[in-house]
Amino acid sequence: MAVMCGIVGYVGEKRAQDVVIEGLRRLEYRGYDSAGIALVATGTIASDKRAGKLANLEKAIADRPLPPATVGIGHTRWATHGAPNDVNAHPHSGAQRRVALVHNGIIENFAELRVGIEADDVALLSETDTEVAAQLLEAEVLTGADLTTAMLRLVNRLEGAFTLVAVDALDPSRVVAARRNSPLVVGIGDGENFLGSDVAAFIEHTREAMELSQDQVVTITRSGVSVRNFDGSSAEGRRYHVDWDLSAAEKDGHDWFMRKEIHEQPRAVADSLLGRRTPEGRLHLDEMRLSDQELRDVDKVIIIACGTSFYAGMVAKYAIEHWTRVPVEVELASEFRYRDPILDYSTLVVAISQSGETADTLQAIRHARTQRSKVLAICNTNGSTIPRESDAVIYTHAGPEIGVASTKGFLTQLVACYLLALYLAQVKGTRYGDEIDEVMRQLEAMPDHIATVLASADAIYAMAAEHVDTRSVLFLGRHAGYPVALEGALKLKELAYIHAEGFAAGELKHGPIALVESGLPVLCVVPPAGRDQLRDKMVSGIQEVRARGARTICLVEDGDDAITPYADTVIRLPKVPVLLQPLVAVVPLQLFACELATRMGHDVDQPRNLAKSVTVE
Ligand code: AGP
Repeated sequence: MAVMCGIVGYVGEKRAQDVVIEGLRRLEYRGYDSAGIALVATGTIASDKRAGKLANLEKAIADRPLPPATVGIGHTRWATHGAPNDVNAHPHSGAQRRVALVHNGIIENFAELRVGIEADDVALLSETDTEVAAQLLEAEVLTGADLTTAMLRLVNRLEGAFTLVAVDALDPSRVVAARRNSPLVVGIGDGENFLGSDVAAFIEHTREAMELSQDQVVTITRSGVSVRNFDGSSAEGRRYHVDWDLSAAEKDGHDWFMRKEIHEQPRAVADSLLGRRTPEGRLHLDEMRLSDQELRDVDKVIIIACGTSFYAGMVAKYAIEHWTRVPVEVELASEFRYRDPILDYSTLVVAISQSGETADTLQAIRHARTQRSKVLAICNTNGSTIPRESDAVIYTHAGPEIGVASTKGFLTQLVACYLLALYLAQVKGTRYGDEIDEVMRQLEAMPDHIATVLASADAIYAMAAEHVDTRSVLFLGRHAGYPVALEGALKLKELAYIHAEGFAAGELKHGPIALVESGLPVLCVVPPAGRDQLRDKMVSGIQEVRARGARTICLVEDGDDAITPYADTVIRLPKVPVLLQPLVAVVPLQLFACELATRMGHDVDQPRNLAKSVTVE
């Protein structure tokens, strides 16, 4: 399994090694921990793959040159499952090395497919789902099917989200790929054609591209490109001209990595939900190295994190306590170990960290482990220090987050927290299987809801433009919306460098309302009508600040018009369950902060004084 990786494919007249390696370098911004290449050379597959940066692969090839070839594929792996080592690196081949395959995504039914392969006494070298797919593809080619036909047969046996790209040792005329819910784009050349996980892979060779739709197999040869639907029927890809330069291509045409990452959130959330169920439908969490009995014994959860990750922990508290009735404390990592916390073996410490390197959080879990507590990490960076020093880990599948201000990292942390809460509920029996299924279905609908909010980005950008001279902003929220208010304030501080404060709306009357003056923008995250008593109290909070001249910008779910009379601006949110609302409510606040900082002329990806990973205490 490998999610959000770099993929390159080439067939033409140039040295495929050069095109593939250069293409992988253009995808370097995606970050990765292994890289590999496979070439079709005189009837054999010539390949090499190495853990670590691309330079490791280049050095290996320099030491042991690959034969000349004009057909090849390459892969960089951002490992979120399975150690980033040479064996797990892509490409993977079948046992007879007739085909080579690279893969991006998760093949959810690979375990049962693996059983069938091993029943045929085929020895698999790695633990990856990719190798299973390579073996199945090779078996089809060995029946005499061409690579395109073989790929069509293969994809109809797979479940999950995937991009597959393959070559056949005995067919140097083509590269064949397939995609379902995972990125792949075709580069159209003259006497040559390209495949890439995004246009950055081939933009220096051609700006003519072709977009593929869902569930399609594409075959590229020197003379052309042909597309088939998974059912075998012919199809046409949508041709378009890429007018970006390379830098823009790395940002998918966006001005900032952060803006790109905000727009990647539907996919990041969907990817973070993949592979979380057994064939029987029960939840299972990869690398959850804590036994169900150990989890049943948990009678307290302490969540430790910093910054945005801390706010994810605050949302997690509502979910874990509601679904499991286990008490949850949420602690700033930098405060945790100095307050002489009460821990013992039945306390589960959960460390949330996108980078997995935050010194405050790392020191906190080290302290927790000396107190015999079990530590579970929620992390987006495979192989980083915090997961390595934890007893268990839930990896988020956001892919590399380049922007210093965390966005998709935050949303996928929320998903991981919901999954942890549901898993604890499953183990402890505090929620029935059908109730857990219902929440999983609601979560699986969230990517579309997030996309709906993203579709209203222009309205939020227009609103941000009106606040370029704003010197202070308040954010109000209640219940699970309270951490969202805090996160919205943090985004504004770290990007627009203006004073912003998040409050529990109920706290206003205990002091902060003195801050309210004419024209002060107050962003209000209104609870869904499902929490009616809270929503009604929020209305009175909004009335109070409006009566004192505040400019109220209200994030309100569709259909709720109780707020309208007191809102200067209404931003509509899709109707979603109360506990899941942070997944949609935070998105307008991310867009607002990103746009405001852009209009202020700030470097959104590298805000002043900040670093992506705070490795000092
Ligand atoms: C959030 O936008 C900031 N980049 C910062 O608060 C960050 O969330 C915090 O430093 C924690 O980082 P981590 O998740 O990598 O541990």
